[in-house]
Amino acid sequence: MIGRLNHIAIAVPDLQKAMGKYRDMLGASVSAPQALPEHGVTVVFVDTGNTKVELLEPLGAASPVAGFLAKNPDGGMHHVCFEVPDIAGAVRHLVAGGARVLGDGKPKTGAHGLPVLFLHPKDFDGVLIELEERAV
Ligand code: CO
Repeated sequence: MIGRLNHIAIAVPDLQKAMGKYRDMLGASVSAPQALPEHGVTVVFVDTGNTKVELLEPLGAASPVAGFLAKNPDGGMHHVCFEVPDIAGAVRHLVAGGARVLGDGKPKTGAHGLPVLFLHPKDFDGVLIELEERAV
């Protein structure tokens, strides 16, 4: 069901600093910051050729990433995102199998303007999984 690894997301305490390190020290191409108020984050994408690294910084008081950074003040790996061709079908299959979808269970629009949703990390060995609908 899942396709390509679209990105690995890392929560960071300071997005400008993190961007600078990926750009200047690691020599990577880094996108401009994008605010996603619906998700409570500001993101940039680092192009690594075969996939991307998403750097996330909390946006707003209710940001889900603020709690993560309170527990991991230096930052850390936050989620992995897999592409799926049919997100509604994927949700039906996952829920039937006992997996929990976060939030109201309905996809939201993600950083790439495509439908995304998140699966409960307790159902996937402690890893938060994002699914992004993308035609294969
Ligand atoms: Co993501």
